[in-house]
Amino acid sequence: MPETFEIRIKDRSMIVHDANLEQRFALAKSLAEKAGTLALDYFNKRDTLVIETKRDLQDVVSIADRDVETFLRERVAAAFPDDGFLGEEFGHEVGSSGYTWVVDPIDGTAPFVNGMPTWCVSIAVLHDGVPVIGVIHVPCANELYAAALGLGASLNGEMLSLDPSRTIQNAMTGIGCNTHVAPERVGSIISAVLKNGGTFIRNGSGALMLAYVAAGRLVGYYEPHMRAWDCMAGYCLVKEAGGQYLSFSAAGEDLLKGQPVLASNVSAYAELLAIHNANGGNGSGS
Ligand code: IPD
Ligand code: CA
Ligand code: CA
Repeated sequence: MPETFEIRIKDRSMIVHDANLEQRFALAKSLAEKAGTLALDYFNKRDTLVIETKRDLQDVVSIADRDVETFLRERVAAAFPDDGFLGEEFGHEVGSSGYTWVVDPIDGTAPFVNGMPTWCVSIAVLHDGVPVIGVIHVPCANELYAAALGLGASLNGEMLSLDPSRTIQNAMTGIGCNTHVAPERVGSIISAVLKNGGTFIRNGSGALMLAYVAAGRLVGYYEPHMRAWDCMAGYCLVKEAGGQYLSFSAAGEDLLKGQPVLASNVSAYAELLAIHNANGGNGSGS
């Protein structure tokens, strides 16, 4: 091989590629596809599933969630044994590489067990606590959302770029809630969005609604209390599509705690942050 050719290849790889990131990005996309297929098999035979509850009657789970997470844990451990892994169903294994996979095997379990299509597999990879990879697979819609730090965000291979002309007033805002948050606080947040001339939607999957923000379908998403596995993949997608998000602290035990989740295009961010701050929140932007 001529020397100049080798030099050119080396230069290109130095400029564009971070092999550590790209190898994990490729694996995250391939695993999200496969995990989505596994989850879809269960969805199609959901009448046979035994539905269990966790914290309360609204917090449901089945073997589908556990099997999908086990599949992802085993594949990640085989490919990157030194990486950490946090999943909703089986908890946190600390790694030593600086990379941590943060996975919700099925986000939108309530829609899933009730036969609605708004659920997804959500896979994030954090590096030093920052989401550097976000992949969300929505099997019922044949949609794969994928983003990696510095590489942009895409939906089924089409690059995503947020439109700053979209506002709370001329677009829809996703709002989420769970039983960690008082009904009065949720009501007051929805009220504030409506008073500001906006409207809200909730489809039962916060991760999917964050992907919708990255795709420009929703202008923003806000939920006062979510876990890392619900939001980290969506956060990477929104950031790489040109939006903003409220930091989710991944320092030590914080990674395991519930925190407010807010992401939007650049135009709606301040308004949503003000709603958050006026309704029991105290965060700042990132
Ligand atoms: C839930 C969904 C829901 C959100 C909850 C989450 P799960 O996750 O994302 O939309 O409002 O806070 O816990 O239980 O379906 O994985
Ligand atoms: Ca979830
Ligand atoms: Ca889940």
